[in-house]
Amino acid sequence: MAVRTKLVAGNWKMNGLRADGAALARGLAKRAIAAAHAGPRCELLVCPPASLLTTVAGALAGSGIALGGQDCHATAKGAYTGDISPEMLADAGCSHVILGHSERRHGHGEGDAAVREKVLGAWRAGLVAILCVGETQVQRQAGQASDIVAAQLAGSVPNGAAADNLVVAYEPVWAIGTGLTATLDDIATMHAAVRARIPAGARILYGGSVNPQNAADILGLAEVDGALVGGASLDAESFWTIARCCA
Ligand code: PGA
Repeated sequence: MAVRTKLVAGNWKMNGLRADGAALARGLAKRAIAAAHAGPRCELLVCPPASLLTTVAGALAGSGIALGGQDCHATAKGAYTGDISPEMLADAGCSHVILGHSERRHGHGEGDAAVREKVLGAWRAGLVAILCVGETQVQRQAGQASDIVAAQLAGSVPNGAAADNLVVAYEPVWAIGTGLTATLDDIATMHAAVRARIPAGARILYGGSVNPQNAADILGLAEVDGALVGGASLDAESFWTIARCCA
């Protein structure tokens, strides 16, 4: 079986003004460049708010750290006030875009069909889609977690998915920003279930309160191909410490 290089992605969410974003990106770039030969054995990606993409792209230049968006519209251009297109993200230097994050699904009413269209838009622009799936606390307690995740994958992964255009992020909704994490057993079980439903070689990240204390255990699981990190990605040292947990 081919080894899947782990991917550690920072989701900055709606945080940071230009000075903050530039400082955080410079802090990461400095560490990545200094550790070029002995650094973390993983790919690194940061997903800042749209207003910071250009600033962060500049600060990351030459570091090998990739840039991603946090969401996009499905369409290339048009009368969609407030939206950003996949082509605009690519033009700003992005290689990836997070899609179907629970804060979009639950906060903005995005369903699987809409997410699926966005994935197709991302591919049209040459972006890798980081597709988020995950159950709520109520769904897990009702024993529905794997059915919910299976349904999200069935509804939002288009034909044409491949190891080089799709990353799945399993993020239990109840673990996001709460300090709660799924047990290692539950993570391994869910990742194995996801693995059976996506193209061979596609990576599966875990997300939900990943931090420097729990990252080694989570990233040490064979079924975990990386992490999608929210709060702990807003500090260069803590994000770097997480990345270094990739053995
Ligand atoms: P968190 O966020 O690490 O702050 O829980 C993860 C995410 O929402 O992607």
